[in-house]
Amino acid sequence: MTIIFAHRGASKQCPENTMSAFKRAVELGAGGIELDIQLSSDHVPVVIHDRTLKRTASGRSIVTETSFSDLRKHDAGSWFSPSFKGEVIPSLEEVLIFANEFPDLWLNIELKYYSDTNTELVEKSVPLIKKHRSEKNTVISSFAHNRLVDVHKLWSKVETAPIYKANLEEPWDYAKQIKAKAIHPQFRAVNRALTKASQAHGINVRPYTINDERLIKQFLEWEADGIITDVPDVALKIMKNEHIPQERRKWWKVLWQYIVR
Ligand code: G3P
Ligand code: CA
Repeated sequence: MTIIFAHRGASKQCPENTMSAFKRAVELGAGGIELDIQLSSDHVPVVIHDRTLKRTASGRSIVTETSFSDLRKHDAGSWFSPSFKGEVIPSLEEVLIFANEFPDLWLNIELKYYSDTNTELVEKSVPLIKKHRSEKNTVISSFAHNRLVDVHKLWSKVETAPIYKANLEEPWDYAKQIKAKAIHPQFRAVNRALTKASQAHGINVRPYTINDERLIKQFLEWEADGIITDVPDVALKIMKNEHIPQERRKWWKVLWQYIVR
């Protein structure tokens, strides 16, 4: 079954990567939450997408050069809407504790790097994630594929997934080379054949970021393992009301071929 991942939480309805966005994603019925993590200057894993606070918080500093206590002083909600004034930048641990309340909820934790891809983020975050999570519904992803190899060394059972935009020839082979059990391609970098072949090689496929209804339908029909979307509510509606189950579609296809022959 395709798991619908709320990208940065329910990021169309709430300020991205905040507790409000994660709670809203659960309320909407998303099967998973995607979040971005970086390290504060005093080595606390925090949940924020950009390199600086400029876009999503009331400051201008670089996240990795700001202490956790200073990061917490900034308003991470007003930029989105005055009704979210007072929202803070969550710590990773805060999100992990929240997610503990929902045993079936998937978490996709993205290790976010902007320049130096040193191993500190892995060393600080992986033991914390391991303490709170089961490998059954956790996936750690990153554009920094070298760091996923380090994640595997610390927690070999957890799924890791390279995020990428390139048109890879045999992504399942590449995934295996870096010990990954999944791939998270930009949706334009994957088609039906690559999805099916990757899955046949035991590699889960979760394209990002799919907000267009036609594309959501397409990836549901291709039975992608996950869809990462800003609009989990739309994806769930399509899944419940309009998605034609693969088996039934195949049966009609066979019948149709027989009739027109
Ligand atoms: O994990 C997929 C997606 O989140 C990667 O892009 O920039 O939204 O973090 P970005
Ligand atoms: Ca992300």
